[in-house]
Amino acid sequence: MKKALKVTAFILGALLILFGLGISYIQFAPAPTYSVGEIPDMQVEAGPERVAEGSRIASMLCNDCHLGDDGKLSGKWMQDVPPAFGQFYSANITQHPEQGIGSWTDGELYYFLRTGLRKDGSLAGIMPQFSRVSDEELMSIIAFLRSEETKVQPSGNIPPASQFAFLGKLLQKFVFGPSPFPAQPVSRPDTLNQVALGRYLADDLYSCYDCHSASFTSNNKQEPTKSKGFYGGGNELLDMDGRPIYSSNLTPDDETGIGRYSEKAFIQALKYGQRPDGSPIRYPMRPHTAMTDEEVKAIFAYLRSIPPIHNPVVITP
Ligand code: HEC
Ligand code: HEC
Repeated sequence: MKKALKVTAFILGALLILFGLGISYIQFAPAPTYSVGEIPDMQVEAGPERVAEGSRIASMLCNDCHLGDDGKLSGKWMQDVPPAFGQFYSANITQHPEQGIGSWTDGELYYFLRTGLRKDGSLAGIMPQFSRVSDEELMSIIAFLRSEETKVQPSGNIPPASQFAFLGKLLQKFVFGPSPFPAQPVSRPDTLNQVALGRYLADDLYSCYDCHSASFTSNNKQEPTKSKGFYGGGNELLDMDGRPIYSSNLTPDDETGIGRYSEKAFIQALKYGQRPDGSPIRYPMRPHTAMTDEEVKAIFAYLRSIPPIHNPVVITP
């Protein structure tokens, strides 16, 4: 009996010590770094068409997080991240040589956008990784970052350093990680195949599934279709005032999904932020005014083709 007690006490003690070590590792160990593969030696040709396309795509993919108070991509506070994770700031990605990315090579930018890794092996954890975006689109974005456009002209803004709370550090150490650098060139889909184009736009380029599946924690970034509740909505996000708001069900379910949408109504919703009943579609969903009607129609055709999920999502008042 006495011996059993001793053993139990020993095990409990050992567990407590391990627990304490785990906590202090999360709290005090420095952010992990990763080994960086070969950074491509590339020079992006920046014709006016590429710059215009890059500017259009960046307005939907980068502005939300990087557009600062000075009207340039000079960095800002990430208000959407729940405070339990910490206070996060994006980076200055204008052409400023020290505060911005003026001294990065095209290859470093390309490698970073694919994997999330800087050349020193540090990971931009909060920033999305564009591992399935086509080469052409990434090069357009890089061409835009190098262009004469006002938004990317040098800004000396220095966003404050991000503060990771305990939960943020936990993510940083156990959840975040780089995406693999693609082994093959990534091409755009055939634009004549509407559903394939829509799948590329929704799953790969604009990552609609990311907010519109069950939860960020059960999303599969390499194979989006394996995400839990794929496009079934109900992911809890934060609105402008930090209150919970739930993403809509975008599957073709008649009652709870987009079954009630016509193509025309879907264009109205996506580009101008209005539901068929006239109610506004609110932040963090944003009007995608820079999207072409062809893109919206392709996304609609694709969403109509995925398996319906019956999931009534609460529309918060
Ligand atoms: C969800 C928010 C978010 C989006 C969307 C986003 N970024 Fe970022 N980005 C960040 C954050 C946060 C950091 C800083 C991360 C860090 O310091 O670890 C960052 C860092 C960077 C850096 C590294 C800068 C440096 O000096 O280290 C580059 C380059 C960059 N972003 C480019 C882009 C581009 C281009 C796009 C659009 C294609 C984009 N980002 C979209 C949040 C975002
Ligand atoms: C940052 C997260 C986020 C991203 C990314 C996002 N959405 Fe949304 N979306 C939401 C939220 C939250 C709502 C619900 C807003 C509300 O209740 O007012 C919503 C609502 C919608 C609606 C309205 C449906 C309805 O009737 O309730 C449509 C359509 C839609 N999104 C389509 C898309 C498409 C297509 C994409 C990709 C191009 C996309 N969303 C990307 C968060 C997001």
